[in-house]
Amino acid sequence: MNSFDDASVRLWNENWHLLAHRSELAEARDFVRFDILGREVVLYHDGASVIAFDNRCPHRGARIFDGDAGRERFLCRYHGWSYAKGRVFVADKASLTHCSLDQISLKTLQIAWVGDYAFVSPAPARSLEEQMSGLVPMLETMSYGITARWDFNRYLYESDWRIALENALEPYHVSAIHPETLATLKLTPGENQYFGYNSIWSSPLGDERMVRRMRSLSRLFDLPHQFEGYESLYLFPFTMISSTFGFSQSIQHFLPSSIAERTHFTSRLFAGRLRASTKPELVAPFISSSAAMNRAVFEEDHSICQRVPADTWSMDPPRFWSASEEKLIHFRRSYREAVSTA
Ligand code: FES
Ligand SMILES: [Fe+2]
Repeated sequence: MNSFDDASVRLWNENWHLLAHRSELAEARDFVRFDILGREVVLYHDGASVIAFDNRCPHRGARIFDGDAGRERFLCRYHGWSYAKGRVFVADKASLTHCSLDQISLKTLQIAWVGDYAFVSPAPARSLEEQMSGLVPMLETMSYGITARWDFNRYLYESDWRIALENALEPYHVSAIHPETLATLKLTPGENQYFGYNSIWSSPLGDERMVRRMRSLSRLFDLPHQFEGYESLYLFPFTMISSTFGFSQSIQHFLPSSIAERTHFTSRLFAGRLRASTKPELVAPFISSSAAMNRAVFEEDHSICQRVPADTWSMDPPRFWSASEEKLIHFRRSYREAVSTA
């Protein structure tokens, strides 16, 4: 199976994707860049508003931004065209008087906000509200519970995106793959909830001492949404948000690549909102250790996913499956429906 298949292209084009948090794009020239199916999309604060665009110059297509994220002027290195506040500035304009310069524009994607989360879509088949199937109020509240990006972790995952995503959807593997990391939270079977193609797994922690410790830490935070345990949201098709007690949020993407058996994996950790009286230094070591733990967990996931060939995947449920793989069954059903509707 080639990742650069029609189904992946369609899922990217027709759906809304939560790609950024407002805190990452708060100032003029802030950007975040993503690779997707041989193309790139950049979210950019152009000095007036936040836009999402195809990372190519409207002149002759040179790539504009190279980095993953940061603060940089939109300037094409090839012939010096630039862009700000909704306008393209052409270098040596007098040499282009024979062209209709008023027709120059970036190739933009649609952007929509749910609270402080930015969703992007090239050509949505339905509204964001419809796609979220009742999750908008919860997402909006969650988006106000984080204040800054703490960690940015990105690599080319050596696995098909469907394999990588399904691994993230099932906790059946936790004790075998994450014995020293995630398994130490002693996650209980918890509960799955479904919202259209999206799903949530909420798992109370099984270790009472850990729960008491987390509850006492809660006093330092000002969280508009908190689940007392581990909560993992899956937003169809490529995005996951996971959190323990809401102290931080890990936003992960499993974006299809144009290379077979590869996934553009990105995970970002955002720190939870603190009470006005809490000194940030007090919480920093805790957030840092969460970031380190997450990185270790993703490495472990990556190692095991590399062992699963892409052609083991199909839209049918696996013949044998554990109750804790239920969300994976739901994903395959959603996938089938999404790629086969007219
Ligand atoms: S390609 Fe960008 S200015 Fe020419
Ligand atoms: Fe895992």
